[in-house]
Amino acid sequence: MDFSTTLSTAPVSDERLAEILANPGFGTHFTDHMVTIEWTPSEGWHAARVTPYGPLTLDPATAVLHYAQETFEGMKAYRHDDGSIHTFRPEENAARMVRSSHRLALPVLEVDDFVAAVDRLVEVDQRWVPDNSVGGGEKSLYLRPFMFASEAFLGVRPAQHVTFMVIASPAGAYFKGGVKPVTLWLSTDYTRAGRGGMGAAKTGGNYASSLVAQQEATAQGCDQVVFLDAQEGQYVEELGGMNLYFVHDDGHIVTPETGTILEGITRASIIELAGKLGHPVEERRFSIDEWRDGVTSGRITEIFACGTAAVVTPVGSLKSDAGDVPAPASTDLTMQVRQALVDVQLGRSEDTFGWMHRVV
Ligand code: PLP
Ligand code: COI
Repeated sequence: MDFSTTLSTAPVSDERLAEILANPGFGTHFTDHMVTIEWTPSEGWHAARVTPYGPLTLDPATAVLHYAQETFEGMKAYRHDDGSIHTFRPEENAARMVRSSHRLALPVLEVDDFVAAVDRLVEVDQRWVPDNSVGGGEKSLYLRPFMFASEAFLGVRPAQHVTFMVIASPAGAYFKGGVKPVTLWLSTDYTRAGRGGMGAAKTGGNYASSLVAQQEATAQGCDQVVFLDAQEGQYVEELGGMNLYFVHDDGHIVTPETGTILEGITRASIIELAGKLGHPVEERRFSIDEWRDGVTSGRITEIFACGTAAVVTPVGSLKSDAGDVPAPASTDLTMQVRQALVDVQLGRSEDTFGWMHRVV
């Protein structure tokens, strides 16, 4: 795919950029450029371009605004201490977008084109990838590829005009206050995904449906919400934006598998990493009673959550209408897994799995 490039005539100044990168937060500042590719049934994917970052003009009848036909991805670019820039398993994000797009009746953007689009933006906006060589930080450039129904038409059918874009935003810690256990609220009034639904797809609707449950969590004084399966209300699924892991006293780890969770790329990577560290990971259904009993009896020694934005974060106590479950005793393995992952991403340890993709 050939990309045309129109560079910004008003990029953020070096002084302002230094200020932003010193304290990027999450998802608030955006780079100087964006990538756009268009699709129609007759032309396929075409008009691939890099342009200055800026607002879109949309017809009020644009289908995504009404029927939410949309998919997105979340990934990061990391600057290594030698100045080179790498993304983490980008072909996995591309493959997941293909799966999500199938579920949302959107066209397939081939893996190579997805990766090329992301690479192009990282290359053009490379000065936005934070440098961690002094002070051992963990900042990165968060990348947000997304695809949406851009046809102006109110009939309910797959759009005949679709737009794929990539934008980028420098990222520091996702949770304010750095790495410390997050407290969770167990949602029993709301579920995230049902059988045959969109739970395994990365699509905006899943996040829209999580917001009221997250609001409830916040009102309960908790950081994040935990969802249970929709059918029986017994099995742990995931958080609003992260997968879960339960570490047991004999060293093995359990991560929920229900068919309706988002299959995280961090999740898949941790299954491999933890195995290498001598902690086999079992993927299976995991009930809320097992959580409660396991922590109470001491059989569960740690719980953690993971995702691209939040990396790996320890889980503390769980609050619910049926009573609270205290925080597990330890966070040692959580922090070990976190370090092992971050070290590969930031080029501080050998990439034995071949996960990193060099862009610059
Ligand atoms: N689950 C949900 C609902 C998410 O939004 C995310 C974040 O992307 C994850 C899990 C973790 O996925 P990944 O590790 O690919 O970022
Ligand atoms: C991510 O980790 O990339 C996510 O998508 C979580 C959230 C920011 C939506």
